[in-house]
Amino acid sequence: LSTLEAKKCPKECSCDGTQLTVACVDKNLTEIPPSVDEITLKLDLRNNNLQVLPRGAFTHTPYLTHLNLQRCNIIKVKEGAFRTLGRVVSLNLAHNKIDILYQESFDGLSSLKELHLDHNRIEEIQPGAFTQLGFLNMLTLSHNQLVYIPNMAFQGLHNINWLRLSHNSLNNLAPEAFAGLFTLNRLSLDHNELQFFPTQTMTRLREVTHLDMSHNPMIYLGEESVSMAKLTHIYLNHMSLQDLSDQALSGAPLLSHVDLSHNQLRYLEPLSGPKDLTSLNLTGNQIYCNCYMRPLKEWARAGGVELLGACAGPPHLSDEPLQAVAPLDLRCRNRAEAPKEEEEEKEEEKEDESPTNAPSKPTAKPKQKVKCPVNCECNIEAQHATCEDRGHTKVPRGFPAKTELLDLRSNHFHHLPASSFPGSSQVVSLHLEFCKIREIENGAFQGMKNLFYLYLSDNDLTFLDPRVFAGTPQLTYLHLEGNRLVQFPGSALSLLPSLFVLHMERNAISKLEPTGLLSSTTPRLRELYLSNNTITVIAKGALDSATLSTLHLDSNQLTEVPTQALSEAPSLEELNLSQNSVRRVGPKAFQPVHQSLKRLYMDHTGMEKMSSDALLGLGSGLRALTVRGNQLEELPDLSPLTGLDLIDLRDNPLLCDCPLLPLRRWMEKVSLEVIATCGRPPELRGQKVTDVHVFTSCPEIMSPPGEKVAVDPKPPKTKKSKPSKLSNSPGVKAWPERAKAKVAKPAKKQPQRKPVTPKKTKNKKTLS
Ligand SMILES: *[C@@H]1O[C@H](CO)[C@@H](O)[C@H](O)[C@H]1NC(C)=O
Ligand SMILES: *[C@@H]1O[C@H](CO)[C@@H](O)[C@H](O)[C@H]1NC(C)=O
Ligand SMILES: *[C@@H]1O[C@H](CO)[C@@H](O)[C@H](O)[C@H]1NC(C)=O
Ligand SMILES: *[C@@H]1O[C@H](CO)[C@@H](O)[C@H](O)[C@H]1NC(C)=O
Repeated sequence: LSTLEAKKCPKECSCDGTQLTVACVDKNLTEIPPSVDEITLKLDLRNNNLQVLPRGAFTHTPYLTHLNLQRCNIIKVKEGAFRTLGRVVSLNLAHNKIDILYQESFDGLSSLKELHLDHNRIEEIQPGAFTQLGFLNMLTLSHNQLVYIPNMAFQGLHNINWLRLSHNSLNNLAPEAFAGLFTLNRLSLDHNELQFFPTQTMTRLREVTHLDMSHNPMIYLGEESVSMAKLTHIYLNHMSLQDLSDQALSGAPLLSHVDLSHNQLRYLEPLSGPKDLTSLNLTGNQIYCNCYMRPLKEWARAGGVELLGACAGPPHLSDEPLQAVAPLDLRCRNRAEAPKEEEEEKEEEKEDESPTNAPSKPTAKPKQKVKCPVNCECNIEAQHATCEDRGHTKVPRGFPAKTELLDLRSNHFHHLPASSFPGSSQVVSLHLEFCKIREIENGAFQGMKNLFYLYLSDNDLTFLDPRVFAGTPQLTYLHLEGNRLVQFPGSALSLLPSLFVLHMERNAISKLEPTGLLSSTTPRLRELYLSNNTITVIAKGALDSATLSTLHLDSNQLTEVPTQALSEAPSLEELNLSQNSVRRVGPKAFQPVHQSLKRLYMDHTGMEKMSSDALLGLGSGLRALTVRGNQLEELPDLSPLTGLDLIDLRDNPLLCDCPLLPLRRWMEKVSLEVIATCGRPPELRGQKVTDVHVFTSCPEIMSPPGEKVAVDPKPPKTKKSKPSKLSNSPGVKAWPERAKAKVAKPAKKQPQRKPVTPKKTKNKKTLS
């Protein structure tokens, strides 16, 4: 290098004069090096500590085309920070701590095509934040903390193709939230908290072909919910759908793929609307293959629609692929098989005939005065009532009969007597957080037959009577975190056949007894959160559940992996054991769940030793493994884990000597980034395993007896040559932060649409 060139490269950076790239990665820089050469095209500043990006931060480098600011601890982007960067096409701001996008945050980026803002803390998008980004194709806002999208939030994005809003906490979208996005064809809204399909908002998106709505807690899709003229693919999987109108997709004539997998559908009618449907995915539902399914089957056959999934019953058809069942085998023996909702519906009709609902003269409206208890607010149109933090000591009575969301949080009830909520049969969501409740009488929620979400978090409950939840058969999400429960309330849960997600974090449970969870009492339970209790023992049988897929046991006092207790949890996908004191992990610790387990977290458990067979059985299905912050000097063979997307070995005092060679080889082979540092011998402490040279002197095949390690027969390769500095060592991949607790936001931000009661149609009746 000429001295001239050397001078121009800031000392913390490495520069490539031919490609015009400058990389200053991992340097804890607190400001952008001022001496970066003006003609630089690509600037990589990953893993620094910039905190605030001031106005005009990049005036010295006006020719930049690529700017990477991932993991720079950025809290604030001042208005005009990028003002001079009219040539940048790709800007990466992922994994920072930005919470607000200001009106002029991105001014000047007039050529930008890709903007990555994922994994920040964005709660607010100010109007006009994106108005200058007329060439942007892709905007990634996943993994933030958005609750609400206001009208016109994305105004100005005239060339956007793909908008990613996954993994936020969205529960409401304004009707014009996506106004002006005339070129958008792909929209990701999965992993949010939408309880209703945002029909009005979506209908504005005329060009969208792919819509991902999966992992939102919707119960029902009513008539014409989806009205999107160009939509071809819709993902409605992993929601909580219990029913779907046959007209739900009638406004989406071009749909070819509909994914309804992993819902709670018992049957489905032929879908009107889509003319070219090729695939309807019903995997993971509880489809009951009797005569009610016959019309769907005949329709699918006639239209060439592939039905994916299997029958859940009756016994002689169970597990039979839907595609293989013959229409004539779909039979009903007697009227008793008719769905029981029909009776319930008749009752509701009677209730509705009360005098207040009788048609009155349209002009005079004397009776229109809103009925609402003192010190509460009732919004008839939105069907919400709130008495939050109004000093109530008894549950108020007399809410409008159609109330669906009742928010009573932050009052002082202390005690809830039986039948505390008369006339609340339409309530779907009940908030009782922070109400100092010590005791709940049996039958307190009696009559709440539509209750779906119940929030009892942050109260003073020490005990739950077995019949506390009597009369709430639909309850699906139950929040009991932040109480003082000392026992797992197994018998109380047995009245909740629909329970899907149970939050029990921050209680005082020390033991899980053999009959804690049983497939027979909670046949649908998927997610169980027991973090931050004082659990020391989990009895065999305590976790027997055919459906359980997520189990959080972190921050407890376990001293070993509860292998035995997992023996009847065949669907477990995610297990968090971090922050326990599991010193040793013995052989085959995860054998019982080896077929299902996808994510295993064991950080900060003081682990000193993992048997070489600790992970035996786990293979390509495992996607994430973390053992950060332990005392491990060695690791078992990781090479069978060919499906990993995430591995975190940081902060372990690995012994960098020949026994670690298989790990080193493995690290070189995989395309994942693996960060591991040596702890011993002392002269290597702190160095990255990939950087030390001790391994070159190791004998060729060096593996402890009895351990099978796939060792490359070829001589150890030197590090792969890297195409350019910019593609070196991508940032450590982090797992998604867990969505915040599912506490609904104040009533005004709740969805405004009403879930329509499922309608039974004539053709079913004629069949029976
Ligand atoms: C990074 O810099 C900040 C202050 O400039 C300092 O407090 C911190 O310890 C540094 N971190 C590392 C890893 O050097
Ligand atoms: C159907 O859904 C299941 C479960 O979500 C999924 O694994 C499978 O790939 C889907 N099949 C198709 C063809 O989309
Ligand atoms: C557990 O408790 C600690 C201390 O109170 C808290 O910082 C942490 O967030 C809690 N974790 C969970 C998962 O609730
Ligand atoms: C696992 O538990 C630890 C400790 O409570 C927590 O910090 C971490 O976020 C959890 N991981 C996941 C993926 O839930």
